Amino acid sequence: MSRKYFIAGNWKMNKTAAEAVALIESIKEQIGSQEKVEVAVCPTFTSLDAASKALKGSTMKLGAQNMYFEKSGAFTGEISADMLKQFDCSYVILGHSERREYFKECNCLINKKVKAVLENGMKPILCVGEKLEERESGKTLDVVSEQTIKGLEGISGADAEKIVIAYEPVWAIGTGKTATPAMAQEVHAAIRKILADAFGSETAEKIQILYGGSMKPENADALLAEKDIDGGLIGGAALKADSFAALVKSAESAK
Ligand code: 13P
Repeated sequence: MSRKYFIAGNWKMNKTAAEAVALIESIKEQIGSQEKVEVAVCPTFTSLDAASKALKGSTMKLGAQNMYFEKSGAFTGEISADMLKQFDCSYVILGHSERREYFKECNCLINKKVKAVLENGMKPILCVGEKLEERESGKTLDVVSEQTIKGLEGISGADAEKIVIAYEPVWAIGTGKTATPAMAQEVHAAIRKILADAFGSETAEKIQILYGGSMKPENADALLAEKDIDGGLIGGAALKADSFAALVKSAESAK
């Protein structure tokens, strides 16, 4: 497969700067340097500086969990691209279901952020996923396709190759319930088809599509064995070096 596996830790609102450094040191010790698998950690904004220093000399990359699309100005509480670039951020998670739900982010805002991240030379990790009631009423593919299409509106084919998509069924996040590999693969294949329709199949084949939602060492091998699952966006299991390293090892030995 031409796509590299990618394991990214979304630390959400956890860890002080000192705790972030300790976790990074411990992950580094356990995974060594990575050739086959891309690895990134996404701490909170306040830990980015310390995390960036702790990552120096490692192949692990740094990501942020959000970003505002404007360059600067009167946007109290927001963080710009230049602020993230100070710390060599490679990735920015956008459109996470927690931001959609608790902070009322809509596809239109997320699309502006996706464009701003790309314009600034970083890679967006665009999260999409259905809620339980949407799955139960048979709307999964409609929801995911709307979020994908609207999130990527106006993006060129060349930029599309730099995007990572994370399929995160909302009912699986932090609940211990995981989509079965077949359920996840069905949605991943549908996302790849949407990407092929928008950007052509050659580009679609290059885009990494991660699974997120209670992914852990016990279920990772089966998920990663699926054709269109290229890695994971990990919440809870990314907060402990042992489980995060085990996920990286799963990806190393996949396919
Ligand atoms: P959990 O792995 O804790 O379910 O979280 C997944 C997630 O939301 C990653 O962005």
